[in-house]
Amino acid sequence: MKEKKVFICSNCGHNSTKWEGKCSSCNEWNTYVEEIINRESATEKKKKTWQGPEKKTHKPILVQDVKHSTTPRLTLEDKELSRSLGGGIVPGSVILIGGEPGIGKSTLLLQLAIRSNFKVLYVSGEESAEQIKMRAMRIGLTNSSCHILTETNLTKILKQAQDLQPDIIIIDSIQTVSSPHIDSTPGSLTQVRDCTSDLQVFAKESNIPVFIIGHINKEGHIAGPKILEHIVDTVLQFEGDRNHIYRILRTKKNRFGSTDEIGIYAMEASGLKTVENPSELLLSQSDEQLSGTSVASTIEGLRPMLIETQALVSQAIYGTPQRSATGYDLRRLSMLLAVLEKRAGLFFGQSDVFLNIAGGIKVQDTAIDLSILASLISSLQDISVNSKICFAGEVGLTGEIRAVNRIEQRIEEAARLGFEQILISKYNMKGLSKKNYPIEVIPLSKIEDLVSQVFS
Ligand code: TYD
Ligand code: MG
Repeated sequence: MKEKKVFICSNCGHNSTKWEGKCSSCNEWNTYVEEIINRESATEKKKKTWQGPEKKTHKPILVQDVKHSTTPRLTLEDKELSRSLGGGIVPGSVILIGGEPGIGKSTLLLQLAIRSNFKVLYVSGEESAEQIKMRAMRIGLTNSSCHILTETNLTKILKQAQDLQPDIIIIDSIQTVSSPHIDSTPGSLTQVRDCTSDLQVFAKESNIPVFIIGHINKEGHIAGPKILEHIVDTVLQFEGDRNHIYRILRTKKNRFGSTDEIGIYAMEASGLKTVENPSELLLSQSDEQLSGTSVASTIEGLRPMLIETQALVSQAIYGTPQRSATGYDLRRLSMLLAVLEKRAGLFFGQSDVFLNIAGGIKVQDTAIDLSILASLISSLQDISVNSKICFAGEVGLTGEIRAVNRIEQRIEEAARLGFEQILISKYNMKGLSKKNYPIEVIPLSKIEDLVSQVFS
């Protein structure tokens, strides 16, 4: 046995014999972590961690001769999870679910385990069997063949899985499992990466799908998930704000389906509920017209969602004005403020600016920009925006309102929810079919047009 000290980049997995400030492979700063590797040769290790069926030697075969397995996908009751996976679980696939601690990853997969009719092996290294039982009772236990295993040793886990032959395996979480053949602490980069590879080999050989839960922190930087993304077949990211009830399940990688799909949930007392019509929930129900709010017609994945944006602009009390944004990129907010100053002569320099996207949802769609501008101006001038108007447009550095994709879908969703006007980029008008929308479509080309349309 040989002991070796290496430095591994936690972003890309590149390793080096000495510490470096900047990774020479992915150019990220300060990502190297030290690890002691004390292991037998790689082949020996594989044999011990997972003693699967005798390895066959693979020979090249013609693609038309490849035996096409007809095992269908496992269909799920949870429509949102099923949608995110591209329509059910592919047998033998490895699915990584990443997310911040406390966001609801365990709840999501426990629900899958206890509400389906599959034979499930739920491996937990974080909670005791009693704790899981208590949670299961609260969520509603209906599956009579869900097995709980509290074990962290991967060799033992795979042995149990081999004996049980479940339809689905769930590992909660990858940071807690470890292989006794790697002399590195559980949760370390080497452990997490090698255990995932072993699970991938096991899944492919046994044709049993494996779900892996992985924690990430706010920066997405903790040992593991980044590197795991290359190994696994599907990566789902569970996001949201812990203080709000909405959660989005985003597909970041999928070897067996599109990455455009998202799942939407609401965290309630009895677990996660699927949300079919997000717009109806994300719009505030108040009839009062308040300044500083407006509605954006956004699209996340393939789904249109009308979301309220809220801004508060107030006189800064202390020297340096504060800027804060929830659910929206702070740098992009600074950019929009700069554009407003330069192109529309609206000054925010001496004001605190707070921005909030309703429901605690992180929006990636840039079409939300226009609504954010409207909310900012509305709060600055204390003039409310008519609640029957909604917005869809991206804002460029020169103050022009730029076209966004899937505009017709956005217009239709706004019309469906009873909006009377939608303000969009004039460049979007070209592609627009000439059909009559039950909503007035107003084209804008610059910020000035927004000001004159809405605030005069
Ligand atoms: P959990 O699934 O443990 O998160 P993770 O595995 O991602 O760390 O759930 C975290 C939170 O969800 C917990 O703080 C309480 C809340 N919760 C509910 O609101 N309702 C429920 O039915 C359950 C099970 C959890
Ligand atoms: Mg958990």
